[in-house]
Amino acid sequence: MKRLIMALVCAAMMMPMESKTLVAYFSATGTTKAAAAKLAKEHNAQLWEIEPSEPYTAADLDWRDEQSRSSKEMNDAEARPSIKQCTDVTPYDTLYVGFPIWWGICPRIINTWLENNLDQLAGKTLIPFATSGSSGIGEAEVYLKKTYPSLKWQKGLLLNKR
Ligand SMILES: Cc1cc2nc3c(=O)[nH]c(=O)nc-3n(C[C@H](O)[C@H](O)[C@H](O)COP(=O)(O)O)c2cc1C
Repeated sequence: MKRLIMALVCAAMMMPMESKTLVAYFSATGTTKAAAAKLAKEHNAQLWEIEPSEPYTAADLDWRDEQSRSSKEMNDAEARPSIKQCTDVTPYDTLYVGFPIWWGICPRIINTWLENNLDQLAGKTLIPFATSGSSGIGEAEVYLKKTYPSLKWQKGLLLNKR
C-alpha cells in the first residue's frame, strides 16, 4: 500500500502542470476581435472581450475630430473609460492582452482593465498584442512597461497580417 501511494505521488509530481492561458481583448470595430479569436484557438486559451460600459459609436472613433470621445480620452492620460463586466484573472498563468493601436499606444480602456486587475495580475506573464492601420506595437509596449512596471511583460505581437 505504502509503495502504491509513493508511486502515485511520484507520478503526480512528474505530470506537467497545466498552464492556463487567457486572451483578453478590446476591439472597437472587430479587427482585434478576429485576431484574438485566432490566437485563443492557437493557444487553446479562453477568450474574454473587454467591453466598454458605453459602446463606441463611429463618431466616438473619429480621430480627425478633436472633440470625439476617443480623441478626448487619448488626450487625457488619466481617462479610464469604465468596463461592463469584471474579469476573473486568477485561474490564468499567461494572459494575452489585445487592443487596436490608438494614437500609437493602447486605448485607455486597457488601462482601466489593467488597473482593475493589478493585484491579481502580479507574477503572471502578460503578452500585449495589437492590430493597427500601420503603426507597430513598440510604442505601446514601452508605454505599458513604463506605466505598469510591477507587471511581468513579455514581447508584444502585432497581428495585422492574419
Ligand atoms: C481613435 C483611433 C485611433 C487610431 N490610431 C491609430 C494609430 O495611431 N496608428 C495606426 O496604425 N492605426 C490607428 N488606428 C487604426 C486602428 O488601430 C486599426 O484600424 C485597428 O485594427 C482597429 O481595431 P478594432 O477593429 O479591433 O477596433 C486608430 C483607430 C482609431 C479608431
